[in-house]
Amino acid sequence: MRIGILGSGLMGGKLGTIFARAGHEVVFSYARSNDKLKRLARDAQGHARAGTPGEAAKEADALLLAVHWSRIDDVLKQAGDLAGKVVVTCSLPIDAGNTKLIMANTSSGAEELAKKVPKARVVSAFNTVPSEVLFGVFEAKRKKDRPSLVYCGDDERAKDAAAQLIGDVGFDAVDAGPLQIARYTEPFALLVAQLAYEGEGGPELAYRFERFGK
Ligand SMILES: NC(=O)c1ccc[n+]([C@@H]2O[C@H](COP(=O)([O-])OP(=O)(O)OC[C@H]3O[C@@H](n4cnc5c(N)ncnc54)[C@H](OP(=O)(O)O)[C@@H]3O)[C@@H](O)[C@H]2O)c1
Repeated sequence: MRIGILGSGLMGGKLGTIFARAGHEVVFSYARSNDKLKRLARDAQGHARAGTPGEAAKEADALLLAVHWSRIDDVLKQAGDLAGKVVVTCSLPIDAGNTKLIMANTSSGAEELAKKVPKARVVSAFNTVPSEVLFGVFEAKRKKDRPSLVYCGDDERAKDAAAQLIGDVGFDAVDAGPLQIARYTEPFALLVAQLAYEGEGGPELAYRFERFGK
């Protein structure tokens, strides 16, 4: 797949690198320095390059939106027309101090994003794990018991693309249903962050759902 990274920080930088190493074609965009984007592309050791958000979006089969909530409008404006595009968002609707969700229960960041880009096909994914665990999950990809990763969205083909990317990173993709379920997954992401950053054992934390019974 051709993947455009909109926001090349902790999440976008690492996921873009992993996508490139998994064989995808990646364009890193949206950082405060172009040198950083070029370095990410070089270090990815795959098919990767630096570009503007518009360039990242133009040819992409899927986009990863990975910016702070306060930067969403700016990056979308720079990306241009996203009609028909698969937009996988890991961005959480968090306040400037990164302490709390600014919406929950009656809406979610993913749903608000979908309203901003009504012709795009939005999937919420990757927001329920800390960036620190991503390379570890990728390296352990061949192990039997993969960690879970929940995703949700309203467009089945977009969800299939997201599920492929989730699997390529090394997770077991768990379809949680329509985009509205982001009202549950976004608060869950804060629980995982709490355990990762405030719990014992460090931030390299993932989770796994197990079903018992038949
Ligand atoms: N970090 C996590 O573990 C984690 C986990 C789950 C969900 N999330 C969510 O994922 C999203 C991304 O998080 P993150 O930790 O990856 O954020 P981040 O490290 O701050 O990355 C954001 C990216 O946006 C760029 N940026 C910020 N302001 C900019 C500006 N004015 N012009 C151009 N580029 C600008 C940053 O540039 P620079 O590279 O120059 O700083 C960076 O590349 C957030 O919504 C967060 O809530 C994060």
